[in-house]
Amino acid sequence: MSPFLALGLLLAGICSVHSLPENVMVKDQHRRVDDHTLASSNTDFAFSLYKQLALKNPNKNVIFSPLSISIALGFLSLGARGPTLTEILQGLKFNLTEIQEKEIHQGFQHLLQTLNPASNELQMRAGNAMFVQDQLKLPDKFIEDAQVLYSSDAFSTNFRDPEAAKSLINGYVKNKTQGKIEELFKFLSPNTVLVLVNYIYFKAQWKTRFDPKHTQQAEFHVSENETVEVPTMTLDLETPYFRDEELGCTLVELTYTSNDSALFILPDEGKMQDLEAKLNPETLTRWRESLQPRQIDELYLPKFSIKSDYVLNNILSQMGIKKIFTDADFSGVTGTGKLAGGCSPPPTPSLVANVLVSPQVVHSAALDVDEEGTEGAAATGISIVFLAFRKTVVRFDRPFLIAIVLKDTQSIIFLGKVTNPSQA
Ligand SMILES: *[C@@H]1O[C@H](CO)[C@@H](O)[C@H](O)[C@H]1NC(C)=O
Ligand SMILES: *[C@@H]1O[C@H](CO)[C@@H](O)[C@H](O)[C@H]1NC(C)=O
Ligand SMILES: *[C@@H]1O[C@H](CO)[C@@H](O)[C@H](O)[C@H]1NC(C)=O
Ligand SMILES: *[C@@H]1O[C@H](CO)[C@@H](O)[C@H](O)[C@H]1NC(C)=O
Repeated sequence: MSPFLALGLLLAGICSVHSLPENVMVKDQHRRVDDHTLASSNTDFAFSLYKQLALKNPNKNVIFSPLSISIALGFLSLGARGPTLTEILQGLKFNLTEIQEKEIHQGFQHLLQTLNPASNELQMRAGNAMFVQDQLKLPDKFIEDAQVLYSSDAFSTNFRDPEAAKSLINGYVKNKTQGKIEELFKFLSPNTVLVLVNYIYFKAQWKTRFDPKHTQQAEFHVSENETVEVPTMTLDLETPYFRDEELGCTLVELTYTSNDSALFILPDEGKMQDLEAKLNPETLTRWRESLQPRQIDELYLPKFSIKSDYVLNNILSQMGIKKIFTDADFSGVTGTGKLAGGCSPPPTPSLVANVLVSPQVVHSAALDVDEEGTEGAAATGISIVFLAFRKTVVRFDRPFLIAIVLKDTQSIIFLGKVTNPSQA
């Protein structure tokens, strides 16, 4: 009954936190501990958002980049003040008695550096940009923080011509995602004054590649009564594996040449919803600690290419980030509300703040999994079937989950659900 579920998790560095040598410099230790706090909050946010998206789209593929959404909201929070700010940070699952706002921004700053590695093994790029209405003068503090903490590009934009503004922004995103995200904004209001953008691009090769000659059409059970034929890759290999009897699922981890990895999670038949309900950071940690290398005689994994577009306003409101859509305090962006140049200044600063309110939060993600590896501007899928033989056979021919894990940090880049690999 449950659809094929692909969770693409991009994670970074929990292990390094626990294995810190005693004599490590205090400064370094602080930074790593912050990474860990940031990562566990980001993971919590990722799974919470996943549950909302999966609930809203019960029989659809889901793919998104929780990390991209977290960074974009972190970036936005630079301009928020008062309860609006608190709500965003708490909505991102930060416990503000344990971590300060400044540390959160520094955490994202460091994370952005790890997302732009100087490595031949992995093509990964992430960054931010802001598109600012012509002649709108943003406070220096906001501009400086945007550049220093979020490495943001800045573009002066004429939103009065919304089509031109849209094509400027969408063109920027398309370029940064190697053409994979073509139309982030479907619509822009001519009253827009500021657009913040985050992008992530990821491309990695499997350490053990699948042989395209062995890829064949095979059945995938979308639901109890619906079966589709999809190109299915096959491989025998030794790779981390875990049979989770407690949650009724089987996990296979496939490693990239960069040593990052994708975690594929195949719930037992009819158990998808139970598993979805149990997704949380503790479960992920338990899985990571339980995976053990194992010879898999036959692994069957569909090749797939999925995409999703979301408007997140309602979902974020349900997750407690409400004020940004109703009565936001964005005085960190609006400052005194002065417009430079010939524009007449608005009557009061709070009115400017109100213009900045009613944002639209959109998200698009795309993930391709094939014989060579994974390309994502986001997701991936696995179905595991035990046959009654001694040999281990894992057949991803029904709903499953996938998580992509970075070895150095612990942040989820892609999270998704594939209900039907034959759908785009
Ligand atoms: C936040 O952290 C404090 C101190 O560690 C703890 O007492 C509190 O329960 C936490 N709050 C939440 C919502 O987790
Ligand atoms: C992105 O823009 C750069 C600089 O303008 C250009 O060199 C590059 O070819 C573009 N890439 C794509 C995929 O359009
Ligand atoms: C599947 O088909 C059976 C028999 O035709 C029917 O009883 C059952 O309700 C169907 N299940 C779904 C989810 O449609
Ligand atoms: C991946 O890990 C292996 C084994 O620990 C190591 O030999 C190799 O250099 C690593 N590769 C990269 C790209 O870090």
